[in-house]
Amino acid sequence: MNLNQIYSLAIEMGKEVDIRGKDKDIDYFPDSKIINYRGIEIKSVYIGIDIGVGELLLIDRLKDKGYGIDAVISHHPMAEAGYRMAEVADIQKHNWIKYGVDKKSAENLIKKIKWESLMETREKNLLRAENAAEYLDIPLFCIHTAIDNLTQKYFEDLLAKNKGKKLQDLFKIISNIKECKLADKKGDGPFLLDNELKNNYVNNFLVDMTGGLDPPSEIFYYLKEKMVDTIIGMHYSLDNIKEIKDNKIAGIITGHMASDSIGLNIYCDKLESKGIKIYPGSGFYRVRR
Ligand SMILES: [Fe+2]
Repeated sequence: MNLNQIYSLAIEMGKEVDIRGKDKDIDYFPDSKIINYRGIEIKSVYIGIDIGVGELLLIDRLKDKGYGIDAVISHHPMAEAGYRMAEVADIQKHNWIKYGVDKKSAENLIKKIKWESLMETREKNLLRAENAAEYLDIPLFCIHTAIDNLTQKYFEDLLAKNKGKKLQDLFKIISNIKECKLADKKGDGPFLLDNELKNNYVNNFLVDMTGGLDPPSEIFYYLKEKMVDTIIGMHYSLDNIKEIKDNKIAGIITGHMASDSIGLNIYCDKLESKGIKIYPGSGFYRVRR
């Protein structure tokens, strides 16, 4: 496969399960992009959660040591895809509206976080890895929300199967996911935001794994009003966590590296079935299903 085909496979997989549905007018994944294209045949890829200049130098060294790495894939966005990350936040709006939050409030809240994120992003230099990949002649792309969509679907299916269970029982099931177990060994396993809610029942849950940015903290008040009892997210800001707790919503944090790894693993299983060799690195827990 060439780099384009490997990239397009992820885009298609991510679109297939996108909660916005199919719409020809949506630019689905502005936070994903081919950063350095080379038209060579790719037989093996190094895949990491974050790729920076350091990882690219590491890969250059590994190639010297005999590792056959033809291309590099970063989960987190960089370069143009990094500057455009706020654009995918609209996905979150679809999730909230599904739970009954009115459209106008949802739109206003999204507008606010998109603007804040854009202002923060524009301070940054997101071009370093792109420049390094060009000098080192390493084919590279980043694939963000397409992969987070796979994680979203994974947890939505898991939660749908376990609706009505006690929070502590659901937590046990999540803790047993292989990626979460591996992360737990490193001190980065899943956790409950409020242990006192462990005997609550999980009936009206919101899975919050995709949409690029941390949500605005005000949304948890709206969600509580709409009877959402449990939120499952991969990570939250401190401000988000305080609001979730203040609104007495049960929260399960599944862990950032573990949750990003779940989506990447679904994609990597597909790549391997097409004969691509995977070198996992940079926080990626590779597990085959
Ligand atoms: Fe992430």
